[in-house]
Amino acid sequence: MDKKTIVCVVGARPNFMKMAPIIKAFEALKDQVTPYLVHTGQHYDQDMKASFFQQLGIPEPDIDLGVGSGSHSEQTANIMLRFEPVLDKVKPCAVLVVGDVNSTIACSLVAVKKQIPILHVEAGLRSRDREMPEEINRILTDQISDRLFTTERSAEQNLIDEGIDSNRVCFAGNVMIDSLLANLEHAILFTDTLNAYQKDTTIQQGNYALLTMHRPSNVDDPVILKSLLQSIVALSQKIPVIFPIHPRTRNRIEQDGLLELITTDSIICLPPVGYLQMLGLMKSAKMVLTDSGGLQEETTALGIPCVTLRENTERPITVEQGTNTIVGTEPEKIKACADEILATGGKSGRIPEYWDGNAATRIVEDIKKNYL
Ligand code: UD1
Repeated sequence: MDKKTIVCVVGARPNFMKMAPIIKAFEALKDQVTPYLVHTGQHYDQDMKASFFQQLGIPEPDIDLGVGSGSHSEQTANIMLRFEPVLDKVKPCAVLVVGDVNSTIACSLVAVKKQIPILHVEAGLRSRDREMPEEINRILTDQISDRLFTTERSAEQNLIDEGIDSNRVCFAGNVMIDSLLANLEHAILFTDTLNAYQKDTTIQQGNYALLTMHRPSNVDDPVILKSLLQSIVALSQKIPVIFPIHPRTRNRIEQDGLLELITTDSIICLPPVGYLQMLGLMKSAKMVLTDSGGLQEETTALGIPCVTLRENTERPITVEQGTNTIVGTEPEKIKACADEILATGGKSGRIPEYWDGNAATRIVEDIKKNYL
């Protein structure tokens, strides 16, 4: 039997922890299939990319398309132009994409026009907010995917509602949680991370809030960004806040002249941190405030209360079963939720079905059955 190739695509930071366990799981089929790893280069900074490859043990990509930043159209178009020759050369039996970033939809569009089956990991999630670029990427990628791997049961219903045959859906569980469980014991102590950046290390275990935000809807509008940061300053008077800042957010804070607002001893600003640093920062936090999708899931898996600074979530199971509360961006709501966590410890939650560390194995077994 001829050995087949599956092209696996990563592009942006949240893709790396999803792809790592899948690449590892393919080793069980190494006589039948070779994963060919493509990095689109959507994220290119050392701290947005390289440290993740090292810490997650992802092999060097077979090719880096080096697309970098740009408008959505530029980025998507550049990825498409550079990805097409890769498929012509490699001739894979399938293209595997993860998540909902621009690289996900760009590579899927190229594959479907070449009639190469698309395998979409983390299919069917819906925020029902079409102003989110990721929501458009999710809907379109799912429509053209051949096989759809879901992380929670509600995703299958979303897909059926959009006319997708349930026979194409496989409930596999959450690969991001595979990575979390595999790496938890290697998580870097939060004090070591603070030390590494010469920051205050008198902060106690379980006695700080961790903040991340980078969604365009939160950081691109100066009024919303300022209001969110004011809420954080108010919170920091009750508990120290550690804030690793995404490049998009840092640019906006600087452009809007808001750096001074958050320059206080009780807000510890860091550059974007690596995966193992982030795990360590999350697991020792009293609470996490975020607009990230991944952190909503990771905090549920860790049992750490999560305050989501968005009006909706595409990951409802983190609210129904996990530790997540959707508060939006209004100062009173953020304050009320954070105060409750400070007073009561917040939601404890339980671990959702199939968030058990074996999602990638289930995905690879399904691929073996259907594509090899
Ligand atoms: C992308 C994803 C988002 C994901 C996020 C995680 C899309 C539509 N969005 O958003 O779903 O949650 O990644 O990080 O794909 N920049 C750098 N260095 C880098 C990368 C980006 O400085 O390595 C800066 C650039 O100014 C760039 C901006 O960040 O213009 C935004 O980067 P981009 O890749 O367009 O989107 P993200 O906001 O990172």
